[in-house]
Amino acid sequence: MADDDKDKPAVGTTENQSEAQVTAQATAEAEEAAKPKPTARRAGPRTGKSRGRKTEEVPSTGHSWDGITEYDNPMPRWWLWTFYVTIVWGLAYTFFYPAWPLLNGATQGILHTSYRKEVAAEIQRYDEANAGIQQKLIETDLAVIADDPELVNYSMNAGRAVFATWCAQCHGSGAGGAKGYPNLLDNDWLWGGTLEEIHTTVTHGIRNTDDDDARYSEMPRFGIDEMLDNAQIDQVVNHVLAISGQEHDAALAAEGAVVYEDNCVACHMEDGTGDRMQGAPNLTDAVWLYGGDKASITQSVHDARFGVMPNWSPRLSEDDIRAVAYYVHSLGGGE
Ligand code: HEC
Ligand code: HEC
Repeated sequence: MADDDKDKPAVGTTENQSEAQVTAQATAEAEEAAKPKPTARRAGPRTGKSRGRKTEEVPSTGHSWDGITEYDNPMPRWWLWTFYVTIVWGLAYTFFYPAWPLLNGATQGILHTSYRKEVAAEIQRYDEANAGIQQKLIETDLAVIADDPELVNYSMNAGRAVFATWCAQCHGSGAGGAKGYPNLLDNDWLWGGTLEEIHTTVTHGIRNTDDDDARYSEMPRFGIDEMLDNAQIDQVVNHVLAISGQEHDAALAAEGAVVYEDNCVACHMEDGTGDRMQGAPNLTDAVWLYGGDKASITQSVHDARFGVMPNWSPRLSEDDIRAVAYYVHSLGGGE
């Protein structure tokens, strides 16, 4: 095809036309490549909106960074109006609600809204609404709380909340306990499961140094303090395995019965059923505070255990203690 063809308007057959275009493009590309690279391309006015719609001149702002210039396109109208609305909204908001910081506090806004006050009022409303029933709970004899449906209802709700906040971390959220932390759901009690006894345990705690009335007892450290040698400990452990119905060495257990008689009956009783006055666990059942396998029992005898529970009287109000005691008592093991 002749060289000058490319300048002519392409007319004729389709084939003819496309050929002309291809050639024109190729030549243009070649020319472009041959040119020295301009430092500032497209510096002049350019056409925008060229995607087949109307084409108009968009002026440049004149700003140029690394050869990139900025079009001076107006913002879309919908965007601009949304922007104006947010400004109006923002100003109106600061007029009605607390907004601008001052040296002390902030502007109050003409509505005088204060979420802090609302919360305080809500808490006060709650306290006032419960003041009567809380007073009644404190004044009612523990033994007859169960006869008053209103007190029962309040104690269960408040007690559940207190338990979740103050007791669950040790006794488990379901009160099922863990190693060293007794299960409060069953009727196996160290210190007693009547409402009165639970109330005392919670008020004063166990083996803590903060409360003179804390429940207290101390199992001797038979191994550490060398009150028994390892052979005797092995014997008495076999005796404990025997009375709790577990696999044991009968010969060792027979000797262990004598060791038990001499060292353990004062607290765990002749038959091994324990003593609540001293918080000494029943050793004949399948419920273990520290584990019922041979190794755990050996450790209990060798090192002795010393479970501590805080006293709650400095932390909880009397009505809260009563509520949580009632709640624990109601969980299934209450006596
Ligand atoms: C820091 C851990 C801890 C927290 C918190 C705690 N307890 Fe205890 N609790 C214990 C331990 C340990 C024992 C067992 C002590 C022992 O070996 O005699 C215990 C024992 C008890 C007992 C006696 C169980 C029995 O068999 O006689 C009751 C009842 C009890 N806790 C209730 C509560 C209540 C109610 C709360 C919440 C107000 C609470 N505990 C919070 C650690 C805790
Ligand atoms: C002065 C009282 C006392 C004497 C004596 C005593 N114990 Fe204990 N024993 C306790 C107490 C109290 C506990 C519970 C400790 C705790 O809760 O932290 C306990 C716990 C145990 C446990 C752990 C039980 C469990 O549920 O995990 C075993 C096992 C045990 N004693 C065995 C013995 C044996 C065996 C002897 C005798 C060699 C003995 N005790 C002597 C008071 C005593």
